[in-house]
Amino acid sequence: MQGKRILLGVTGGIAAYKSPDLVRRLRDRGAEVQVVMTGGAREFVTPTTFQAVSGRTVRSDLWDAAAEAAMGHIELARWADAVLIAPASADFLARLATGQASDLLSTLCLATEAPIAVAPAMNHVMWANAATRTNVATLAQRGVQVFGPAEGDQACGEIGEGRMLEPVDLAERVLALLPASGALAGRRVLITAGPTRERIDPVRFVSNRSSGKMGFAVAQAAREAGATVVLVAGPVSLPTPAGVARIDVESAADMLAAVLRELPGTDIFISTAAVADYRPARAAEQKIKKTAESLELAMERTADVLATVAARADRPYAVGFAAETESVEQNARTKLMKKNLDMIAANEVGHDKAFDCDDNQLIVLSRNGRHELPRAGKLTLARGLIALIEQDLAARAAARKRGPALA
Ligand code: CTP
Repeated sequence: MQGKRILLGVTGGIAAYKSPDLVRRLRDRGAEVQVVMTGGAREFVTPTTFQAVSGRTVRSDLWDAAAEAAMGHIELARWADAVLIAPASADFLARLATGQASDLLSTLCLATEAPIAVAPAMNHVMWANAATRTNVATLAQRGVQVFGPAEGDQACGEIGEGRMLEPVDLAERVLALLPASGALAGRRVLITAGPTRERIDPVRFVSNRSSGKMGFAVAQAAREAGATVVLVAGPVSLPTPAGVARIDVESAADMLAAVLRELPGTDIFISTAAVADYRPARAAEQKIKKTAESLELAMERTADVLATVAARADRPYAVGFAAETESVEQNARTKLMKKNLDMIAANEVGHDKAFDCDDNQLIVLSRNGRHELPRAGKLTLARGLIALIEQDLAARAAARKRGPALA
């Protein structure tokens, strides 16, 4: 969302107390946020609060001569890359649906060509009212995105549908609203992440220490670069990065099936998952009882997801990770060639390195390149890796263009 301009409209409702947090979430993602409040909103939160968190003077009056002189309302309507109204009261939805321009915020909504989203928040009976339903249907038909509302406890003490979605969720949804820009815009990136679990019996499994953090960071970096991102994740407890489609899987076989299903149309496949290499040859139907003094578990090989993808005739650009405890670079180069990859990121694991840590360091090898990404947070490394993939793809495209002249 770096540098994207979000016009955040705040209307009168108790959920307005959550909107300063929404401003923070949007700014954390690199967006510029201009807050516009209705008169009703000012009854709940002060403009000073929004000014402090947004770093910009809050607008609310259509007739404020000084503010209009600095940036007129039509200019402000053009400034926005996206408009989000959160919370959107029943009254504001009605005014928006009937095209009114009775205050600054409704006027801006009429005058903007940017996508508009509303996050309704109101008492559940007001939300269920036929007038509100009609207004929301009208807005949706005109292309206004309706985010929520959620169901749950309401400020009035009742329970029902009408709670504003949480700020973190709204910030993610606004990101998805913005047209993609960046070096990977228009590309589809498929990523695997996390460990897999291979069943021994109904209550036990074989797994590993992968946290999935690196893969989730790579998904975020690819999305930031404008790609459409699908993330196939083993069992991890991490939030899905904004704008990323996530598919949860358990075993190596599930992961392979999900990857093959998602492969058509994929331009880049990045395999960060720590896929189990072996699984119990036979998962017991019932819990294995503690009867014998020792227990032997027969294991069989799982399919190699990355090698399977890279061996296909219609293969995407394929990137692997090499987790090594010794001879890191040499082993990684062998994997690059053996698995027919375009690039491999090698890291040393074990002895409290890499797995389940927040930082790491990588040696990135491609068919004719070698780069070191020095120790840093996983998101920084992920952005570095995505930049190297972009460079390699650009170099290949340039070589293809030169091709006929050389021949
Ligand atoms: N990989 C995979 N499917 C597997 C095993 C590995 O897709 N069944 C992928 C990993 O996601 C990684 C790359 O292959 O991108 C290398 O994984 P790694 O565990 O380092 O190597 P292995 O191929 O498993 O070989 P070894 O365990 O012998 O080092």
